[in-house]
Amino acid sequence: MPSPLASSASKALTFNVIAKCSRSKARASTMILPHGEVQTPMFMPVATQASLKGLTSAQLAQLDCKLCLNNTYHLGLKPGQEVLDAVGGAHKLQSWDRNILTDSGGFQMVSLLKLATINEQGVKFLSPHDGTPMLLTPEHSMSLQNSIGSDIIMQLDDVVSTLTTGPRVEEAMWRSIRWLDRCIAAHKYPERQNLFAIIQGGIDDDLRKICCEEMMKRDTPGIAIGGLSGGEDKSSYCRTVSLCTDILPQNKPRYCMGVGYAEDLIVSVALGADLFDCVFPTRTARFGNALTSSGSINVKKGQYAEDFSPLDFDCTCPVCKPKSEGGMGATKAFLHHLVTKETTGAHLLTLHNIHYQLNLMRKAREAIVDDKYPEYVREFFSKRYAGDK
Ligand code: GUN
Ligand code: ZN
Repeated sequence: MPSPLASSASKALTFNVIAKCSRSKARASTMILPHGEVQTPMFMPVATQASLKGLTSAQLAQLDCKLCLNNTYHLGLKPGQEVLDAVGGAHKLQSWDRNILTDSGGFQMVSLLKLATINEQGVKFLSPHDGTPMLLTPEHSMSLQNSIGSDIIMQLDDVVSTLTTGPRVEEAMWRSIRWLDRCIAAHKYPERQNLFAIIQGGIDDDLRKICCEEMMKRDTPGIAIGGLSGGEDKSSYCRTVSLCTDILPQNKPRYCMGVGYAEDLIVSVALGADLFDCVFPTRTARFGNALTSSGSINVKKGQYAEDFSPLDFDCTCPVCKPKSEGGMGATKAFLHHLVTKETTGAHLLTLHNIHYQLNLMRKAREAIVDDKYPEYVREFFSKRYAGDK
């Protein structure tokens, strides 16, 4: 094993950069977490309620997923902390012996519940079950994530839309820094759960720089870039990610939150990001959309009723793979028939879409190791826009 190009080791996370692209900031790494090794770049599917809508843990494992996401906000409400403690955490609850990352909850509340308000104490919201007022503080988020037992836990942060301007952006950034300090102080199990900081600061370069420097001083095992993918233009997105990856340590994982469109993943990898998550591939499956190398197709459309080809000829997922090779050999016509009648249709599209995302990142990693990432990017975009004039 050649020695890594950059590495870091804390009690519950070892990160080794094993290859770097010579013509971009893309890197390939190996991250060892309490529930096994993860290879980056990597997309993490979102299993909000300790279940990836439509899939069993065994199916997710069959897709070779090594790390999935749960949400503190949802698990904290149901099944709740008592049940989580009684069962011994989310791995046991969902029969998943691989890694889990939990988001801290605040972002979900602010994006899901229009009624959430933020002050220095935490995020105030009304329970979606019975409307009683509740408060999620950094300490409470840590306590819940400690009960969940996830391998990577996220700090509670103050997130504002990237379209927000003015003093609120700076306020949220400084508050996120103060909340990280409270999270560090409240975290009970740093020897087995990795707390990640989240960089905020909107699309303001100066604020992002300050936030990177401040978060780095706290020396967490990994760092996330938050507050993006919220409707900002692509050039602001790229400039902000690139600015952060220029400052952040080479030897720690960088997680770009809420990013899941294939184009964005490909570009963000070139900008030096390692980890990504998004509900997009699973959510879009439930609307009948399949992700393919030439873009997304909606199998509900009548044009597929008699189309007996697979979703994507290049796909090796259990749904598309021919029967002779141990797959289902499902055709667009069959999926068209199912999605308009049966929930199985959405499940199969979810399997296919998650495979698509995982494979996109697996192949990106191979290309980085072979120092052919720019060629990979070119091939990706030429297939995607092959039909365009
Ligand atoms: N998910 C997508 N963006 C964010 C963010 O900025 N913070 C948190 N906590 N979760 C996110
Ligand atoms: Zn497939």
